[in-house]
Amino acid sequence: MIADLVVIHIKTIYTPYLKPPVKGKHMASIHEIMDAYIAVKDGRIIDIGSGSPKDFMGPNTAVYDAKNHIVIPGLIDGHTHLVHGGSREHEFKMLQEGIPYLEILKQGGGILSTVEKTRQATEKELYFQALKSLDEMMLYGVTSVESKSGYGLNLEHEIKQLKVNQRLKENHPVYISSTYMGAHALPLEFKEDKEAYINQVIKDMKEIKKLGLAEAVDVFCETGVFSIEESKKVLSEAKVLGFKIKMHADEIDAIGGAGLGVDLGCTSVDHLMAISDEDILKLSESHTIANCLPGTSFNLKKKYAPARKMIDQGVALGIAGDYNPGSCPSENFQLIMQLASKEMQLLPEEVLNAVTMNAAYHLGISHLKGSLEVGKDADFVIMKAPNLAYLFYHFGINHTKDVFIKGKPVVLNRQIVRSI
Ligand code: NIG
Ligand code: FE
Repeated sequence: MIADLVVIHIKTIYTPYLKPPVKGKHMASIHEIMDAYIAVKDGRIIDIGSGSPKDFMGPNTAVYDAKNHIVIPGLIDGHTHLVHGGSREHEFKMLQEGIPYLEILKQGGGILSTVEKTRQATEKELYFQALKSLDEMMLYGVTSVESKSGYGLNLEHEIKQLKVNQRLKENHPVYISSTYMGAHALPLEFKEDKEAYINQVIKDMKEIKKLGLAEAVDVFCETGVFSIEESKKVLSEAKVLGFKIKMHADEIDAIGGAGLGVDLGCTSVDHLMAISDEDILKLSESHTIANCLPGTSFNLKKKYAPARKMIDQGVALGIAGDYNPGSCPSENFQLIMQLASKEMQLLPEEVLNAVTMNAAYHLGISHLKGSLEVGKDADFVIMKAPNLAYLFYHFGINHTKDVFIKGKPVVLNRQIVRSI
C-alpha cells in the first residue's frame, strides 16, 4: 500500500496500547518505539514501527522529517466548557480573598454571571470566542475536545451554545464531542421552583435529542446545586433517550455523586476532589472513568482529587482541562498535565494514558483515537523534547512543535496552518 504521508526520523514514539479502560497499575504501561516512523493513508495509520518505511513510498507520498523529536498521540481534553460569553476577571479578587466558589454563585455571580453574558451574545460571537480558545488548545497539542453547554439554561440559549459545537465540528479540524448540560445551575427565573426547572431540562433534552445536537448529558451534582435525587432523575431520563451520561461529582462535598455515577453507568464522573473511599472502591469495580481536573484545584486553591490513591486502588483515571471562564480559565493543556503529575504524584506514563486512551474511551472514540496504532486516526503531536518525562519536568511552556490531525498538518513550528 502506498502512503499519503510518511513521518520519518522520530526519536521515540510514546503511545498507550492497552485496551481501555486502562485501570490501576496498567496505567503506567506505555509503548515506546525508538527510531520510529508512521505511515498514513486517507487520514489513518497504515503502519508504525522502527527504522525506515520503504514499502510505503510512492511518487506522491509526502515525507515529513521529525528531526529526532519525540511523538505522542494527539491530546484529548474530555471535559471543557469551551462555548461561553464574556470572562470573569471581576471575581478574581473575591477568590483571592477566599470567598467560596459556591458562595459567589449563591450571590448571583459565578456560573450565573456567565449565563447572563452567554444569553446576551449572538451565536456568531460565541462561535468566534470558542474558536479562539479551540485554536489555542490545538497549539498545545489537543486534537479532540469535549464541549458542554450549560450557560444558556433555557432551550433557546442552550441550543445556541450547542449549535456552536456543531459548527465547530463541521469546520474545525479538532474533533468535538458535544454535551448538553442544562442542569449546570438553577437559573434565576426558576429560583423558587427547582422541580419545575428539572422537568424543563428533561423536556428540553428530548428536543436536543431530536435535533441531534449532543451525544451526552452532564449534571452538576453538588450541595446547593443539584442533589443526588435530582441528578438521578435527569440522568436516568437521558439514558432512556440514548444519551451517554456523565456528572460533575463530589467536587466540594462528598455526597455520593461518584457512586451514583457508577450505578447509573456514567461514562465518566468528573472533579472528585471530595470522593469517599467507598466510591473509590465502586469506581475500581466499574468501567466509569474517574476524570480529575487539576487545573480547577489549582485555580480555586482547593485540594486535588486523590488521583494517586485511585490508581493504586485500581481505578481508570482520566485527566481533563475543565476550561471555563470561572473555575479554570486556561487553555494550556500541558500545564494541566504537569499539575496532574506534580500535584497528584502521577507518573508521566499514567498522565499520558489519562489524556489519550482513557479520555478517548469515555468519549466513545477509542476505536479511532487515543493511541497510535494501525487503523486509528493519524492524530499526533511532534514535541520538542528529548523524552516523555521532559514534558512534565520542564513546566509552564509549550513543548509542541507540530500537530497533525487525520494525517494533515494543523500546526507547524507553533503556527496554525489549518484552523477553519
Ligand atoms: O466544572 N463545577 C461546575 N462547573 C464548572 C465551572 C463553571 C463556571 O464556574 O463557570 C466546572 O468547574
Ligand atoms: Fe466542568
